[in-house]
Amino acid sequence: MAVTARPALDAQKLRADFPIFEQKIHGKPLAYLDSAVSSQKPRQVLDAMNVFYETSYTNVHRGVYTLSERATDAYEGAREKVRAFVNAPSAREVIFLRNATEALNLVAYAWGLNNLGPGDVVLVSELEHHSNFVPWQYMAKRTGADFRMLPLDEHGELRLDALDETVGDGNVKVVATNLVSNSLGTISPVEKLAAWAHERGAIYVCDAAQAAPHRAVDVQALGCDFVAVSGHKMCGPSGVGFLWGRAELLESMEPFLMGGHMIRQVRFETTTWGELPHKFEAGTAPAAEAVGLGAAVDYLTDVGLDAIAEHEHALAAYALERLAEVGGITSYGPPADRRAGIVSFNVDGIHPHDVAQVLDSEGIAIRAGHHCCQPLMTKLGVAATNRASFYLYTVPDEIDRLVEGLHKVKRILG
Ligand SMILES: Cc1ncc(COP(=O)(O)O)c(C=O)c1O
Repeated sequence: MAVTARPALDAQKLRADFPIFEQKIHGKPLAYLDSAVSSQKPRQVLDAMNVFYETSYTNVHRGVYTLSERATDAYEGAREKVRAFVNAPSAREVIFLRNATEALNLVAYAWGLNNLGPGDVVLVSELEHHSNFVPWQYMAKRTGADFRMLPLDEHGELRLDALDETVGDGNVKVVATNLVSNSLGTISPVEKLAAWAHERGAIYVCDAAQAAPHRAVDVQALGCDFVAVSGHKMCGPSGVGFLWGRAELLESMEPFLMGGHMIRQVRFETTTWGELPHKFEAGTAPAAEAVGLGAAVDYLTDVGLDAIAEHEHALAAYALERLAEVGGITSYGPPADRRAGIVSFNVDGIHPHDVAQVLDSEGIAIRAGHHCCQPLMTKLGVAATNRASFYLYTVPDEIDRLVEGLHKVKRILG
């Protein structure tokens, strides 16, 4: 049988696409180990946005002149690229928004307000980013529904065995979890959660903000009803992300934001809504940003999502191994074979902010804080952690530098 294996990615070569790595920080090469907060941008994305601004820019879906048609074609072309990227059945189901936070708020408001009430249960997990926690907590309170959290086990993985017990005889209406945790790198069994939710007559909402940049996300194979993604974490610009939702659900929902473009007809007495996806895209669209996101999709597709996932997995395994050698380090999260390219840890007795500051003096950028996951921090019994997160441009040498930096931290502050 012929095997057409894709070569593993060459991170060192890919770094040449990212102008940010041409500089030094405190006289040292930049070791950017904070891609989970936001990724760096390749020249291909920056150039695509520049070309759009220089040759095709105007507001989209407005004028009938040539430039307007060109801009609209570029914007809708980006939507089609995103559709293919997540294997959505139709581009009508792809809504361009500012980021995953806006996408999750859209679902919580536009679906939640009309579908939740007393006796219903909204289920999230202890592993959620605040963006997939606070909107549901708020909407449950506002509608009188019960808000519940699926617990984690000692590895920071969702306890699927506790699903029935957590919900009890409540009428579960929505289950909302991430696919990849931004704090621990845990990869969650989304297909199983979606199947369980559907068996109970609930919808399943997937926060794929940390998944879509790093592994192939197929919304149909996962069986989700809604999927939220941010562009800036996947080599795209800030200011654009998207929501994918099943057409019948999106069609049944009221709009989230109202104003220009999202209407069919406005009269003094009443207003009717436009078709999908326009009903959910009020106001001037982030056209250049969407074009940049389309270029990011091309870039990631060209590198190969499977190769990216494999590369980051190898880096996570290497990082966990090297961190264990340092001594006095507590790391959190599942074993390497069940996590994405994210490692969270604490250096015994040293505050994460101090750790991150010393590392910065070595040109190493990591995140220190609660990572917008305060319920998880409570569960772990800590106020904050250090987090190193990897991407397609991360090389093992940067992990070696992180480890050397941690020895320095211990020498200075230990
Ligand atoms: C898992 C997860 N969900 C949601 C978000 C929110 O993304 P944004 O700030 O782009 O809306 C983040 C950002 O860190 C995240 O990691």
